[in-house]
Amino acid sequence: MAYRHFEFIEKHAWTLGILTAVMVSLGGLAEITPLFMEAHAVKAPANVKPYDPLRLAGRDVYVAEGCYLCHSQMIRALRFETQRYGHYSTAEESVYDRPFQWGSKRTGPDLARVGGKYSDQWQRMHLMDPRSVVPQSNMPSYHWLADEKIDPKDIQARMRVLRELGDPYTDADIAAAPAAVKGKTKMDALIAYLQGLGIKNEPQPPDDGHEAAATGAP
Ligand code: HEC
Repeated sequence: MAYRHFEFIEKHAWTLGILTAVMVSLGGLAEITPLFMEAHAVKAPANVKPYDPLRLAGRDVYVAEGCYLCHSQMIRALRFETQRYGHYSTAEESVYDRPFQWGSKRTGPDLARVGGKYSDQWQRMHLMDPRSVVPQSNMPSYHWLADEKIDPKDIQARMRVLRELGDPYTDADIAAAPAAVKGKTKMDALIAYLQGLGIKNEPQPPDDGHEAAATGAP
């Protein structure tokens, strides 16, 4: 293009604006399209399993209570992150997370690999009254979860929907779900969910694809 063309663009704000928007959109598409294509190719590795009924119920509590507003579940591939939280998160680990809980808001620590870091009893005390175990904590108390029971019918319906979306639940899994959550409270379910986070699905070196070692966060 000759100089006069540039001069025309630079002297006409609307033209400059529209052409800038076109170029930015093209750049954006070039970045985003391959990621969309790749998203469908992400498959669950052998050590990533769909949530069992109790953990699935716990995950719903996690989402319903908005824990993601203060906690991310995505460890970035930066040394200070991996030293604090463990192996960085990978896309494969979240294939059964609908919606995923990556997030970016960290009022509290990342929870992607919090499973096994504390005992069930600690988790219970912390959720009942965070300041009983971490005096300086500003996390809210979730004591009412201990009084609310899980609805077994509801969890079956959720499993059926997830199966429609591609989760490999069998009829037997769904039939067994009510027994697995019978008499459990939302607190029990949430603790089961937290205690499983990131333990068994930690990415493995290629030779060692079977059961992951329970490493937890350092
Ligand atoms: C207002 C923000 C906020 C919300 C909402 C919140 N948390 Fe927290 N959470 C924190 C903070 C701050 C800490 C660090 C202090 C502490 O341990 O209490 C924390 C710590 C934790 C820890 C310990 C993590 C570690 O590695 O030591 C767990 C587990 C946890 N939260 C779970 C939850 C769950 C489950 C929910 C939802 C039911 C939730 N949090 C909601 C702020 C929040």
